[in-house]
Amino acid sequence: MTSTGPWWLAENASLQALNTFHVTAHAPRLLHVADPEALPEALAAAGDGPLLVLGSGSNVLLAADPEGSVLCFENRDIGILEHRTDHAIVRAGAGTSWHELVTWSLGEGLSGLENLALIPGTVGAAPIQNIGAYGAQVGEFIHLVEAWDTQARGWVRLERDACRFGYRDSLFKHEPDRYLITAVQLRLPLLHELRLGYAGIGEELQRMGVELPVAADVANAVIAIRRRKLPDPDVLGNAGSFFKNPQLPAAQVEALLQEHPALPVFATDDPGQRKVSAAWLIEACGWKGHRAPSDAGVAPSHALVLVNHGQASGADLLDLARRISASVQERFGVPLEPEPRLVGARW
Ligand code: FAD
Ligand code: EPU
Repeated sequence: MTSTGPWWLAENASLQALNTFHVTAHAPRLLHVADPEALPEALAAAGDGPLLVLGSGSNVLLAADPEGSVLCFENRDIGILEHRTDHAIVRAGAGTSWHELVTWSLGEGLSGLENLALIPGTVGAAPIQNIGAYGAQVGEFIHLVEAWDTQARGWVRLERDACRFGYRDSLFKHEPDRYLITAVQLRLPLLHELRLGYAGIGEELQRMGVELPVAADVANAVIAIRRRKLPDPDVLGNAGSFFKNPQLPAAQVEALLQEHPALPVFATDDPGQRKVSAAWLIEACGWKGHRAPSDAGVAPSHALVLVNHGQASGADLLDLARRISASVQERFGVPLEPEPRLVGARW
């Protein structure tokens, strides 16, 4: 194995450092690509067979070893392609850390990404589930996605509308591993109405003593809230929210509220649907802070976050997730759907 040049390949590689649950898994082949132009050549060298792209592994559960090759992008370039009076088009390589891009854009006087500060992972993965937090989603700011289409065996540029972004959803989720995203272009405004409405941001700014916030203050408030609520994966393995917040017909939510008036409910883009808090449902079933003998558990600070206390395997975490989901279904009649990608298992 050589680790220089436009790409390099390792065999029987450990994936423990490449997933934030820190579970043990191995890849028959691990392909690193630093120069996306070399991607076709690198893919040919890796041979035929299944291919799984991994960024930081902060939204995957490795329930078994992946088959075939795992691909990691190492291109971490950030630059401005166009500077206009009211916005700039920024381009970042797939391997760039998402939070680094947020910090860089704020330093350049660009706004929009402040509510998405401190989300773990890479730029290349951000469009996959349309990362979102504190009232913003990345899809709003995506200009286009650059990718290698493994089906057509050619380069494509997918503009925002073609990406079909939704809540934790996109075209890419429906055709996994078809598009290998090599770079993302974002359209970031120079002046932008700050989003302070999401619960907690206003209070945090007050606590910080900020009266007239700028985008960087919002980012700092979001960072402080996230550090309080979510366990640091370097300390306690996790993949953030393990389940999506379920979207249900408004009538079903009304019926649930009759019996459980404290259930947090959020509006969706569809007036006939509401989103309910999965964390609340899970906490109500008594799971918050639970720790199984396998070391799989639920974070004491947030009921939606499954954690690995050290020795849990991907299969142990999946087993706990299934037990949690079954109890929520039984008590509330609400199905839960995992947010992370399951590798080597079906839900
Ligand atoms: P990975 O986990 O490596 O991959 C995720 C998916 O994307 C996989 O299907 C993978 O195959 C695919 N993929 C990755 N890179 C590429 C590429 N270049 N081309 C094609 N496919 C690719 N998410 C949110 O939306 N909001 C949050 O607030 C949030 N908070 C989190 C907090 C914590 C503590 C943690 C651990 C996770 C959190 N997440 C959150 C989830 C996660 O950070 C995001 O989903 C992130 O985008 C995953 O990036 P990654 O590089 O780790 O992707
Ligand atoms: N809640 C509980 N118990 C808990 C935690 C929260 O009842 O243990 C209740 C809170 O009272 C609150 C509600 O749940 O009313 C929502 O909690 P929070 O603001 O923490 O948000 P969330 O819905 O649990 C979502 C995203 C997060 C994102 C935050 C902030 C999903 C699946 N998760 O969590 O994204 O950071 O909002 O916007 O939509 C992720 O995707 O990995 C992730 C962390």
